[in-house]
Amino acid sequence: MTDSRRFYVTTPIYYVNDRPHLGHVYTTMVADVVARFHRLRGDETFFLTGVDEHAAKVSEKAAEMGMTPQAWADQNAAAFREVFERLEMTNDDFVRTSAPRHKERVTQYVQALLDSGDVYEGDYEGWYDAGQEEYVPENKAAQNDFKSEVNGKLLVRKTEKNYFFKLSAYRDPLLCVYAERDESGVPFVQPEARKNEIVNRIKEMEDVPISRSGTGGWGIPVPGAADQTIYVWIDALFNYLAHVDTGADSEWGDRRPFWRAGAVHFIAKDILWFHAAIWPALLLALQKCKGYEWVNLPRQVYCHSYWVSDTGAKMSKSLGNFLDPAAIDNYVSTFGLDALRYFLATRGPLGVSDSAFSPDLFSEVYNSDLANTFGNCCSRVANMIGKYFDGHLPEPSPDSNGNAMRFAAADYLPDYTTHFETLDLGRAGEAALRPVRDVDAFIERTQPFRLAKDPENLPTVGTILFECAEALRIASLLLWPFLPDACELFWNRIGCSSYAADLRDQGVGNLADWSKWGGLQAETPIEKGNPLFPRYEEE
Ligand code: MSP
Repeated sequence: MTDSRRFYVTTPIYYVNDRPHLGHVYTTMVADVVARFHRLRGDETFFLTGVDEHAAKVSEKAAEMGMTPQAWADQNAAAFREVFERLEMTNDDFVRTSAPRHKERVTQYVQALLDSGDVYEGDYEGWYDAGQEEYVPENKAAQNDFKSEVNGKLLVRKTEKNYFFKLSAYRDPLLCVYAERDESGVPFVQPEARKNEIVNRIKEMEDVPISRSGTGGWGIPVPGAADQTIYVWIDALFNYLAHVDTGADSEWGDRRPFWRAGAVHFIAKDILWFHAAIWPALLLALQKCKGYEWVNLPRQVYCHSYWVSDTGAKMSKSLGNFLDPAAIDNYVSTFGLDALRYFLATRGPLGVSDSAFSPDLFSEVYNSDLANTFGNCCSRVANMIGKYFDGHLPEPSPDSNGNAMRFAAADYLPDYTTHFETLDLGRAGEAALRPVRDVDAFIERTQPFRLAKDPENLPTVGTILFECAEALRIASLLLWPFLPDACELFWNRIGCSSYAADLRDQGVGNLADWSKWGGLQAETPIEKGNPLFPRYEEE
């Protein structure tokens, strides 16, 4: 398998200082939809999510709770894992940075950088944002009245003995990477507007401390300096490499080809600098070390914006306005998990603007796209097949070409695929619904329910309904990454359950082949079943 048929997608690893909320669920869900698309089209896919444990705010919160950091992290890591499982995320592994396999790799990477001289010992004094666990540059701190940009709390003046990373040595190499990627047509950071802000900052970047003292041992020790722990951000960024840096003889098998394929990192704008500058610079440094020549750079950092509440405030734990797991469950039990996936993925803040999470918009999108469009169209066609053909898919008759819809996957696939490749999930969702809209228009135009009143027209009606069912089959393939449960149920009803079996058993599908015209067999029993998406009426 060539690298272009492999796909590696990651999410940030989330802090376990508290329970998961909608923001975390969002990024993991978006990555899940994208991972499913790649599996569907036959790419060998690896999808990684997980949690970031060694933050000071984790050990502080643990102390507040009267627990050890590890016990507190265990409890919250389990909550994240459980939510992701319940939401049917298809991640192939789940990172915990306190796991031995993670610590072992990170220690090796930092050792290699110490050996090469890109990590060195020194003193650091600066303005520290305790909530964000990061030093804020002097000018930025002054601009903001020495308060945190994120939570408004006062910054603290801090001096410490540290190990530093020679970030300044990577200004030009990084700018070269950015220029090369622009030229190749796949910019390193997307969307474009975010990239420009980073490029300007890269030109001025200085060396950064990558260790901390006084963490009470919560963290990964700097090799050879037991009083220093590796800064949580360095520890965390390395997860993306560490979890696929496994050889054929390991318990996880050879995952390195996934790294070689070029990672796609989904993140939000709060953590862009770390991913767009520090991370690739660390990788450029590591690549120069013996044994790590194979380590290439990620394919892309995709930076989305925030879900905000109706009032425009960022949803966050500290603001207390987030949708917690109970609220998320509420949506799932009212509308179904597919509806949550569809709404988040297609109406979310993937671009440069924030999205307000509005319950009214949620039910509106549910009714318009899912209940009235996909769900209703499936019911309509199945009902007519039930009524006029005794529930068996009619044979298309060769002499009714006048009515032929001539849908062809060739018309739908290119746009759909491009939107997935550029990570424009709103448009990808719309492209997936296009065959459904075309079926609705076709039924309006040909009026099979009227034609069926005269038995002489039945061959024509049969052709129309065959074509509608066939187009809905194609739509269900395209919709599957967004609506896996409903599409799999629909496949069962139209005699196509083998798609789900292949996706499950082989881990990959064959979209190009499956979506060719003519996948349905005449005479197949078509089951009406309950509506896939019952219309939502507010009580
Ligand atoms: N642990 C670091 C990331 C290390 S990655 C090597 C961290 N954790 S976090 O728990 O704060 O998660 C931040 C991420 O959660 C964001 O980048 C985004 O993916 C997601 N979101 C958190 N709140 C969000 C919104 N309100 N809206 C959208 N996404 C949000 O930073």
